[in-house]
Amino acid sequence: MRKNIVAGNWKMNKNLQEGLDLVKELQSAVFGKTLKCDVVVCTPFVHLASVSGLIDKNKVKLGAQNCADKVSGAYTGEVSAEMLASTGAQYVILGHSERRAYYGETSVTLSEKVKLALANKLTPIFCIGEVLAEREAGKQNTVVKTQIEEALFDLSADDFGKIVLAYEPVWAIGTGKTATSAQAQEIHAHIRQTVAAKYGQTVADNTSILYGGSCNAGNAKELFANPDVDGGLIGGAALKLDTFMPIVEAF
Ligand code: PGA
Repeated sequence: MRKNIVAGNWKMNKNLQEGLDLVKELQSAVFGKTLKCDVVVCTPFVHLASVSGLIDKNKVKLGAQNCADKVSGAYTGEVSAEMLASTGAQYVILGHSERRAYYGETSVTLSEKVKLALANKLTPIFCIGEVLAEREAGKQNTVVKTQIEEALFDLSADDFGKIVLAYEPVWAIGTGKTATSAQAQEIHAHIRQTVAAKYGQTVADNTSILYGGSCNAGNAKELFANPDVDGGLIGGAALKLDTFMPIVEAF
């Protein structure tokens, strides 16, 4: 059965103390509540070990925002999947559009990163999504299909079954423009069909597909009500408890 997930992507925000403060608030807010989704915080690398020591992972799960495409060695400044796992992290965002656009990440490196994440028992939250010009040209379905095929379709069905997908239209990220509920459902259904065509309906039905891009307290309920939207990857609204919790509670 696929899971509902609300994951906060802090991006490059919050120093260590601020991050720990937010996690403590979040942990108290979810304490004693029966939530209908898993809650994940994806923090900067340097926060991971400290956050890991603070959280009850039955309540709040921990993720990173990237990992290296190499196992270990002379790669100054890189952080390996094995290092992430050793902090207690359970998830890693891979292929975020900001990584693709600003750091030149390609399907080739992402495919390596996904395999290393899986080898270290991390769950990749693999991001896909089109830019505005592609949406305006009606190419969004082809774009996301190609992104999935190129980076993920050499995985076994068993390994693919361990991945979470996040559809994030680039034009909606940090812009305040959200995909309509109907646009989200349409493309999420297409993504699920793409997975079904390769791995079969059971794997597709068990894959969580999150929506990301200006998801907030006002639109989360309607987005999450769609049959193929299994939660959200939340940027700006994940940085404060009072904007994040209503999204967590939207299920
Ligand atoms: P946003 O970011 O919610 O600030 O639009 C989402 C994301 O980039 O994951």
